[in-house]
Amino acid sequence: MSPAAPVTLPDLEPLWMPFTANRQFKKDPRLLVAAEGMYYTAHDGRRILDGIAGLWCCNAGHCHPKIVAAVREQAGRLDYATAFNLGHPAAFELAGQVAALAPGSLDHVFFVNSGSEAVDTALKIALAYHRARGEAQRTRLIGRERGYHGVGFGGISVGGIVANRRMFSASMLPGVDHLPHTHDLAHNAFSRGQPAWGAHLADDLERIVALHDPSTIAAVIVEPVAGSAGVLPPPAGYLERLRAICDRHGILLILDEVITGFGRTGANFAAQTFGVQPDLMTVAKGITSGVVPMGAVLVDRRIYDAFMTGPDYAVGFFHGYTYSGHPLAAAAGLAALEVYREEGLFERARRLAPVFEEALHGLRGCRHVIDIRNLGLMGAVELAPRAGEPTQRAMDVFRRCYDAGVLVRTTGDILALTPPLIISESEIAQIVDTLRGAIQATA
Ligand SMILES: Cc1ncc(COP(=O)(O)O)c(C=O)c1O
Repeated sequence: MSPAAPVTLPDLEPLWMPFTANRQFKKDPRLLVAAEGMYYTAHDGRRILDGIAGLWCCNAGHCHPKIVAAVREQAGRLDYATAFNLGHPAAFELAGQVAALAPGSLDHVFFVNSGSEAVDTALKIALAYHRARGEAQRTRLIGRERGYHGVGFGGISVGGIVANRRMFSASMLPGVDHLPHTHDLAHNAFSRGQPAWGAHLADDLERIVALHDPSTIAAVIVEPVAGSAGVLPPPAGYLERLRAICDRHGILLILDEVITGFGRTGANFAAQTFGVQPDLMTVAKGITSGVVPMGAVLVDRRIYDAFMTGPDYAVGFFHGYTYSGHPLAAAAGLAALEVYREEGLFERARRLAPVFEEALHGLRGCRHVIDIRNLGLMGAVELAPRAGEPTQRAMDVFRRCYDAGVLVRTTGDILALTPPLIISESEIAQIVDTLRGAIQATA
């Protein structure tokens, strides 16, 4: 893909951009106008190497011809079909294929349109499941500090990113508590893969459960690897302990795999990487390789069965979206899974993970760098914040990388990398070299 002609920008003012400093951005805009494989084309015609798979989602790379063709074909054949009392074949086919990738008996799939909707749906399924079994008093939900579960009221309530909660603190779901996060530089700085320290932090769940009484707790939700908080792999043994405590008290364990699903950790799902079986799993992003919005909740058979006990004509679960299992999303999903299979992309992620780890940890010793961590094809470099200006040092590094033709992501003073799974070894080196130059050049 050669450099393209610059594009004239439209009026930027009417668009209220999400999670963006709007005034700053509109003074110095960065628009993307095309994409192919590992590269974006920016509005000024430059090629930008994508180090973050769009937003942790384009696992098959950009504009994969097979996925593009499938969406085009579907759009011309069946544009829309309601999922309420009707359906279309691709949604059923995709549900079967996703279930087949999932561990254990997560063999039913409820389609939604985003990760946020997947989380709110999973929380509602958990509450309704206990009620259906005659345990309606199980209403409490447990999340974790620094957790990100999207921006619905359920997601921000169980989530633990303070900035996302502050404006809405009076309007959260009631009856929610939080586990401590596992990020502790004194013990875990520069861990490769799972940190050795911190499994005991899962035991806090016993304390929270005892405080509220186990019979009131519906579910625990965590990301297997916290993503948006800046890539925090779980300490060795941590998820296993959460699972054991949930089992002891009849609590459902929800793993939020919106980022970690579909190959990111080198397996189908992180649940398989860590050998921990959830009762419910939330996914989105990689399910369509980011091409069409889609999310899903994967549900254990016994939970689905608990909703299927009334007469055949009864609606088991009063929930759903106009676009649940949308034909374009289903077509994109089927094509994405085919590409993952045919190109062996999950195995590729597993094979490249040590190369990625080695390259990233090569940044140790660069100025400002206080931690580096990684798992699969997820990695983060944490910088010491600039005095009085939190987040601005990482934003400066982000801008320098962008100007040098590499897209990275910032969260706080952390730089995150989650490249498409098609990345090559030389592109890994290019991203890390660009990051090194940008960090060294930043005050
Ligand atoms: C773990 C997790 N859950 C939920 C979400 C929300 O997904 P969406 O932005 O599609 O609503 C995200 C988004 O990054 C996520 O990382």
